[in-house]
Parts: sequence; C-alpha cells; structure tokens
Amino acid sequence: MSDNTTRPVAFVTGACSGIGKATARLFLEAGYAVALADINARAGADTEAEFASIGPCKYLACDVSDDASVAAAVQACVESLGPFSAVFNAAGIDGEHGKATADTSAENWHRVIGIDLTGMWHCLRHQIPVMLANGGGAIVNCASVAGVVGAPFLSPYVAAKHGVVGLTRCAALEYARQGIRVNAVCPGMIDTPMSRASMNPELHKMLIEQSAIGRLGNPEEVGAAVLWLCSAGASFVTGQILPVDGAWTAA
Ligand SMILES: NC(=O)c1ccc[n+]([C@@H]2O[C@H](COP(=O)([O-])OP(=O)(O)OC[C@H]3O[C@@H](n4cnc5c(N)ncnc54)[C@H](O)[C@@H]3O)[C@@H](O)[C@H]2O)c1
Repeated sequence: MSDNTTRPVAFVTGACSGIGKATARLFLEAGYAVALADINARAGADTEAEFASIGPCKYLACDVSDDASVAAAVQACVESLGPFSAVFNAAGIDGEHGKATADTSAENWHRVIGIDLTGMWHCLRHQIPVMLANGGGAIVNCASVAGVVGAPFLSPYVAAKHGVVGLTRCAALEYARQGIRVNAVCPGMIDTPMSRASMNPELHKMLIEQSAIGRLGNPEEVGAAVLWLCSAGASFVTGQILPVDGAWTAA
C-alpha cells in the first residue's frame, strides 16, 4: 500500500507512451499515486524513473490482450499502491494502414481487435470488481474519432473503437447506481509516437490543412479531459463519448 493511505490511486494502461503517459503524469501532478500498466518493460522502467520525483508510481507489466496478465497487473496495483478510484484505459495499437476491408489480413484483424477491443473488456472485467469493493470511482476508456465516424482503409481499428464506445455505454448503464462512472474520450489526431509512425510528411501536412483547428492535438489536451472526467466536477457525467478532436467530427 502507498504510505499515504488518503492519496487516491489511478490505474493507467498504455501508461508509458503518448496519451497514456501524459495522462499518468497529470494524475501524479494532481496528487494521485499511479499504476503504470504497459506491455513495454523498457519504457516502463524509464517512465517510472522519470516520474519518481513527481509522486508515487509503479510500473506493472501488462499485456491487455492477455486476460491473466491484466488480472495480475490489477492485483499488483492493489497490493502495492492500494485500490484505485480512477482508471484510464489507453493501451492500444492502430494496426496496418491502407488495406481495404476485403484485403485486411486475418492476422491484423485479430491483433487489433484483441488489443483494442477484447483488451478493453479484459481491463473492465478486472477493474470493476476492485472499484465495486472500494466505493466506486470513474473509468475513462480511450476510443478515438474512429469510434464515432468511419475511416477508410483502417477497418479493424474503426471496428474496435466503435466497439469501445458500445462497451463504455453498456458499463455506464450497468454500474451507475453502484457508484462507478464510465466514459470514453475520442481523440482526434494527437502528436504521439503512434501517429508519427503512421504519417509521412505529406500526410501530416494534409491532415493539418484539413483540420478545422489547424494543428494536431497534444497528449496533455486529452489527459486534461480524462482528469476532468475522473473529478468530482464530472459527478453526473457517465456513459458519455467525448471527442477531443479540434472539431474533426463536427464537420
Ligand atoms: N495518437 C492519436 O492520434 C490517437 C488518436 C485517437 C485515439 N488514439 C488512442 O489513444 C491511445 C494511445 O495512443 P498513443 O497515440 O498514445 O499511442 P502510443 O503508441 O504512443 O502509446 C500506446 C501505449 O500502449 C502500449 N501498448 C500497446 N499494446 C499494448 C498491450 N497489448 N498491452 C498493454 N499496453 C500496450 C504501448 O506500449 C504504448 O506505451 C490508443 O488507444 C489509441 O488508439 C490515439
């Protein structure tokens, strides 16, 4: 357990890069102890060391596509930091780009669905009992603008993120009376290692030109929305799907 037992605990998946990492830092700066759950052990060690001076945090090895791995990470968080009242499920991949639906490989389909959608369910099924036993809390799932509108040549990702939106709504309806709020954020194009890897300079320029706001978002701008959804200020907000997208889905 954390030595300060009044400190709230946040459990963050995909916590060692991009949006998850920026949000984990914001939770720490807001006074939470933070479980950094991620598949990447090297980034985990680096992130834990980088954040150690901000507040109590612990890297936990976790592959969200593996149910037993998620169960172990959740258990390790409870044992080391304490039960969590805030969750941000950010772990995800985008998979292969540029393949039409009929040309998508079965391997890519199952990999993306296994991490982005089944992985989200693994997280919820192990996180919710902890929260039910400890007075409730708030869960934020990371969907995407691809969870509310289509994106050609990216169908496994789009299907998975639409699934995350449905899963979020179901869990919100099921647990609202038991003190757990469940919402999703839908980031637009955010400047992270994932988006950088998927963009050549021409695509980068085109996306900025097409966007209403004229730039990519920062991971911290998604994190700020997550922190608010987990705060007392959002106490009547549940089952909502919040685009953080510079008006990408407003058109
Ligand atoms: N960057 C964007 O433009 C954008 C837009 C919309 C939605 N998103 C979503 O935001 C989330 C974070 O994306 P990002 O851009 O920060 O990506 P990122 O690649 O920078 O970070 C993703 C993190 O998830 C971890 N991860 C990957 N597979 C995992 C697994 N099986 N188990 C546990 N951890 C795993 C990685 O190790 C990494 O630390 C994803 O769910 C992504 O789909 C991103």
